[in-house]
Amino acid sequence: MNILGISCYFHDASAALLRGGELVAAAEEERFTRKKHDYEFPRNAIDFCLSVGGLKAAELDFVVFFEKPFIKFERLLLSSMQTFPRSHKVFREAMITWLGDKLWIKTLIQKRLGVPATKILFSEHHLSHAASAFFCSGFDEAAIMTVDGVGEWTTASVGIGKGTEIKLLKEIRFPHSLGLLYSAFTAFLGFEVNEGEYKVMGMAPFGTPKYMDKVHKLIRIAKDASFELDMDYFSFHYSPDQTFNQKFVDLFGSPRDPKALFFTPDTGYPAYFGDKPGNYEQLGKENQHYADIAASIQAVTEEILVNMARELQKETGLKRLCMAGGVALNSVANGRILNETGFEEIYIQPSAGDGGGSVGAALYAYHAVLGKPRKFIMEHAYWGQENSPCVIEGFLKENGIPYERLEREEKLIERVVDNLQNGKVIGWSQGRFEWGPRALGSRSILADPRRADMKDIVNVKIKFREPFRPFAPSVLAERTEEYFDLPNAAQHYPARFMLYVVDVKPEKREIIPAITHVDGTGRLQTVRKEYNPRYYRLIETFGQATGVPIVLNTSFNLKGEPIVNTPKEAFNTFSKSGMDTLVLGHELITVSLARKRARGSRGAATTEFAKPLTFSPTEKHYG
Ligand SMILES: [Fe+2]
Repeated sequence: MNILGISCYFHDASAALLRGGELVAAAEEERFTRKKHDYEFPRNAIDFCLSVGGLKAAELDFVVFFEKPFIKFERLLLSSMQTFPRSHKVFREAMITWLGDKLWIKTLIQKRLGVPATKILFSEHHLSHAASAFFCSGFDEAAIMTVDGVGEWTTASVGIGKGTEIKLLKEIRFPHSLGLLYSAFTAFLGFEVNEGEYKVMGMAPFGTPKYMDKVHKLIRIAKDASFELDMDYFSFHYSPDQTFNQKFVDLFGSPRDPKALFFTPDTGYPAYFGDKPGNYEQLGKENQHYADIAASIQAVTEEILVNMARELQKETGLKRLCMAGGVALNSVANGRILNETGFEEIYIQPSAGDGGGSVGAALYAYHAVLGKPRKFIMEHAYWGQENSPCVIEGFLKENGIPYERLEREEKLIERVVDNLQNGKVIGWSQGRFEWGPRALGSRSILADPRRADMKDIVNVKIKFREPFRPFAPSVLAERTEEYFDLPNAAQHYPARFMLYVVDVKPEKREIIPAITHVDGTGRLQTVRKEYNPRYYRLIETFGQATGVPIVLNTSFNLKGEPIVNTPKEAFNTFSKSGMDTLVLGHELITVSLARKRARGSRGAATTEFAKPLTFSPTEKHYG
């Protein structure tokens, strides 16, 4: 049986294909269109999934959409009416977009895929979230907690999964939303909503949570761990572009200017920001205020999530928890839930936000609707497109890019390890790209975690990343406990997907300064040999050479762009940045080799190679 899941028209559009209950392929649309958080109909992701499955759309048994558009539209209409006339803009925009495509998903799927209406099913937003976690876990029975901005009406739910059934027992409804509360602070702190939430999380350790009492004025927490927002402070329920209002500003002061550089006395003023302004100290103090606000909303969010999970554990008596929804990407909170709530094991799949809805919807239909038995566990995140050696070589040859083919893997790994030890920054593109927002060794930028200056070096080379953003460590699963405070590390699925932040052992912090955040923590990825053998061997060999089985891993993209997919995108990013080496499968390209090509094509030596090798970012992807 072939089931296609689709998620779109909200945040991250995606598609996923199940064949006989096993996941065959899953990808977010942004990786193909190069539009960050692309939410349009995932035409490319669907084509990709079908091609991996060797299927035509007509061979699909079911197509499942991740939510119910009419119920969502009802929420938009009712909340617009309740807040009219302030909501006139939301109302107008909703009418235009929803009466266009968004409401008529069934017809659209029929038209685009040529499947009959009888094969099209609809899940519910939070059921898709719940299914994406529970049915991907290997747990026979588990508590489930989903928390996000909003689905149809639900913004958070708790329930139980058992066998092929999911029961959501309680929910919190719009406008009361922990995700939307966090997003209001994301906007207040000068970041883009649905994009900058992880920046707030990264900024938080530079501040002190001294405004928790003020945050508590915005949200009332009940004894049963449910919550309610005080809507007097918000405008997201009636405004399409403002999430908080003047009363919020009266409480927290002016919002941060999104264009202002963010630094505090603790982050320092990075050299790549340019010359220090005259009022450097004053600016640092102002920013400290914003870091304190970030710390405060992060602390309250953690408090609420820990409360909810603790309450759920008490009610269900279960020891296993599955989590999903955008808020489940808050890896600092996840680390605390593991340690403080009585749950012993947690499962979160790597695309825990709305992108993951396609996998959840397909699995929900297969198990909960059709009653088919479970056999799939999402053990890894490598469900995206792979570039064959033929495609890689074809691209390099066609564009006259000099490269070395290192057929023997040991040779390739030795060279990369050598480069890493010499302080080089490596673009690493191998195998199928990752499902979800994190780079996990398939499309990663790698560096030596032992050098304190490596944070700045990588920031400069991949251009203008904010200095407060931490870099993550990839560590061999079985060596994790030597460096990180995570007992039985190899068992924890969220750690495979970079979804836990845990303490770096105090005695190791000086050994791996480039991946140790200011508060002594690290957002680790445990790497297992069976799921990414080449990446594993790279880290293992680096460990043999240096004594430290860890590399610094950050996503292979420039600021504001989606993670790369094809050789062309990888090479484009490599040439626009200051990375030293690019590895595409077995091919290795270094700056000096690339310069040779630039010399050849221009007839003269050049020290700047980026321009002649740069492609237009608007061109369609290669291959
Ligand atoms: Fe969601």
